[in-house]
Amino acid sequence: MTVTEAFALDAGRFRSDFPVLTTRSRSGAPLAYLDNAASTQHPAAVIDAIADCYRGYYANVHRGIHTLSEESTERYERARKTVARFLNTEHARELIFTAGTTAAINTVARAWGSANVGEGDHILLTMAEHHANIVPWFQLATQVGAHVHFVPLTDDGRLDLESVARMLDALRPKMFAFTAVSNVLGTVNPVAALVEMARERGSATLVDAAQAAPHGPVDVREWGADFVVFSGHKVCGPTGIGVLYGREAVLDAMPPFLGGGAMIHRVTTRGFEPAPLPEKFEAGTPPITEAIGLEAAVEYLGHVGLEAIGRYERQLVERAEAGLREIPGLEILGPAPEHKAGIVSFAIEGIHAHDIAQWLDTRGIAVRAGHHCAMPLHQSLGITASTRASFYFYNTPDEVDAMVDAVGEARDRFRKRGRKRQ
Ligand code: ALA
Repeated sequence: MTVTEAFALDAGRFRSDFPVLTTRSRSGAPLAYLDNAASTQHPAAVIDAIADCYRGYYANVHRGIHTLSEESTERYERARKTVARFLNTEHARELIFTAGTTAAINTVARAWGSANVGEGDHILLTMAEHHANIVPWFQLATQVGAHVHFVPLTDDGRLDLESVARMLDALRPKMFAFTAVSNVLGTVNPVAALVEMARERGSATLVDAAQAAPHGPVDVREWGADFVVFSGHKVCGPTGIGVLYGREAVLDAMPPFLGGGAMIHRVTTRGFEPAPLPEKFEAGTPPITEAIGLEAAVEYLGHVGLEAIGRYERQLVERAEAGLREIPGLEILGPAPEHKAGIVSFAIEGIHAHDIAQWLDTRGIAVRAGHHCAMPLHQSLGITASTRASFYFYNTPDEVDAMVDAVGEARDRFRKRGRKRQ
């Protein structure tokens, strides 16, 4: 059987689109980039779109009446429409460009939160959240006197819908903010069902799709959430750009967050009137080239096929876990592969995650080690750090096998060292 027949897609077809994947690591070994949950790499189509903008038609948007400004405004707004289609929003104006997922969640916590959450109110999160979906809510809670709660996970790292229902019933939170895919465990949450449960109890919803948008189709209308956010740099796009989707009625009712620049309709010495959507939430010069790069990225992903990406990554996860399970003392975190996106995190008793990641780096394999900006999750698992391999469609089964072999080597090496020291 050839790779093409056995796997949902042929990574080899796409690798040559990514200049960095042809480079070698410091050790001289070919680069195996398995840190995609932190940030993905860029195909030439994205790099070229950004360079073409700077070279050919860059100017500030929504301001000039000269040709370049008109052209870059037209391209910036075209990017909005393309990304809105990527999420299947009802209107392009429901799609706000932000600096990233973190900026988008902060915008909601500050702007929506200050208008809708008050003293004694509750905010519900899950134990699997990234700090970006925890800290802004604590900041809001401190400011207004509200309370933050966390839905616990099951022993295998999934959300238990009965616990969710119980906490929603007991707390009647103003906001239920949760991740669609855990950045550590890879757990895929049943987003539409969770949104429905929250809506039935009068709670607003925010879905952190930073780890979901890269790995499969996101349909905001099917999910039905009030807010959905994700980052450009995790979908092969540039850094410095992210998306805040909000339902039109919710965004219309929400006060603006940052003030200045394009977000106003009129300013007088007595005050200001905000601009209509989407400019109302895009103060200052927006990420123009970044939006154009993000458009190229989502078009590229459409060409690869998001369904196939999701299926392929699951196959890589199954392969990785089958290999890792053979390593004595290694614990794979999170549920079985069928409940995961392309993320495998693990811990080896007695060996620090940083030692494993450093050893893998000597073999040209890039993974992430640490708490992955999810300290409460690690605390709940009783560990301080884990090693995480996160895959994308350009990763090959050979890279997965090399990672498993190198983890086995690291385990043998550091176990021996540990024994010598005793
Ligand atoms: N949120 C990114 C990660 O999980 C940076 O690595």
